[in-house]
Formats: sequence, structure tokens, C-alpha cells
Amino acid sequence: METPHPAGAPADRRTANTVTVVVGLAVLALALVFLFNTNLFTSNWYAFFKWVHVTGAVLWVGGGLTLTILALRAERSALPAEMAMIARQAAFVGERVFGPVGLLVLLAGIGMVVNLSLDWGTSWIVIGLVGYAITFLTGSLVLGPSAKRIGHLIETKGAEDGETQAAIRRTLLIARVDEGVLLLIVAAMILKPFT
Ligand code: HEM
Repeated sequence: METPHPAGAPADRRTANTVTVVVGLAVLALALVFLFNTNLFTSNWYAFFKWVHVTGAVLWVGGGLTLTILALRAERSALPAEMAMIARQAAFVGERVFGPVGLLVLLAGIGMVVNLSLDWGTSWIVIGLVGYAITFLTGSLVLGPSAKRIGHLIETKGAEDGETQAAIRRTLLIARVDEGVLLLIVAAMILKPFT
């Protein structure tokens, strides 16, 4: 009897990969059609920067929020293996996805400010820049090193160990505060207070 392959048959995987690429390209092509057919913005460059900026923000902030919800669920379950899994996944997306995407959000934001000659002293732009600096420093000085330490603790002491679990809980709590900072930046970008 044939044993089922956990990752699916190669042909299934090829089909899934093809569909993923086709969907990605179709979204990109249609978004470019929208971009060249919008009359909302003064230039196509501004429209492009805004599209990149907001899409990146959706991925970054929405992804972080999803992780926060999953972390809360894992904490309620009190299962060490689940806590360790969420910590590993958070470490992966934090370093490989949120870091680069956050930089793209910042660059596209700067692109918009330069393109429209906006005032760098405008309250919501200052809030965006200061907020980015806070989240960048939190990521590189606290969350990144903590994630590495947790990986090491899981390998040496195991996921069930009290020290490992305490480190995971502490790191997830700091990540939650960081997510709060991001949500405040989004509120400032949308509502443009004090202007
Ligand atoms: C760091 C995290 C940031 C996030 C999550 C974020 C998110 C957003 C979002 C969701 C919008 C759409 C608001 C709307 O259209 O109503 C927006 C717009 C904008 N953001 Fe950001 N932003 C961030 C940082 C920055 C920074 C650092 C700058 C400037 C250097 C900036 C400049 C802008 C500009 C110019 C707009 C367009 C405003 C408009 O057209 O009304 N953003 N941002």
C-alpha cells in the first residue's frame, strides 16, 4: 500500500506553485492597470508609492496582529509546544518578512513626502518617523536577539523548560506592545491629527 506523502505529491505541489505564481502575477498586473487609471493622485509615482506603502503596511501590521491573536490563543492553551511553535513562527516572519517589508513601507513613505513636497514637520509624518524608529530599535535590539535566545533555549533545554517558556511569554508581550505602536501609526496616518 502506498504511504501518503505529508507534503503532497510532487505533481500537486507543482500545480499549487503554478496557481500561486499566476494569482500573484494577475494581482500585480491588475493593480498596475488600476495605478495607471486613477485620477486621485497628482502623479503616477505618488500613486505607486502609496500603493507600495499601504500594501506593505497591511502585510506588516495585519501579519503582526494575526500573530498576536495566535499568541494569545497559545497562552490560553498553556501548551508549551504550541507556545514554542508560535515563537518560532514569529521569529521567522519577524526577521524574514516584517523587517524588509517595514523598510519598504518607510522608503515608500519617504517617496510620497518627497514627491508631494510635504512638510517633514507635519504631526502625522513625525509620528510615522518616530514610530518607525521605535519599532526598528525594538526589533533589532530586543525582539531579534530574544528570538535567537529562545531558539537556543528550545534546542538546549527543551520547549517545556520553565526558562524557555518565560522567555517566550516575555518576548510575545514585547511584540504585543510593538504591535500597539504600529496600530497607533496607522491611526495617525489615516486620521492626521493635530493638522
Ligand atoms: C512605519 C509604519 C507606517 C505605517 C504602518 C503606515 C501606514 C500608512 C497607511 C495605512 C496609510 C494610508 C492612510 C490613508 O490613505 O488614509 C499611510 C499613508 C501615508 N503615509 Fe504612512 N505609514 C507608516 C510610516 C510612514 C512614514 C515613516 C512616512 C513618512 C516618511 C509615511 C508617509 C505617509 C504618506 C505621505 C501617506 C499618504 C497620506 C495621504 O495620501 O493622505 N508613513 N501610511
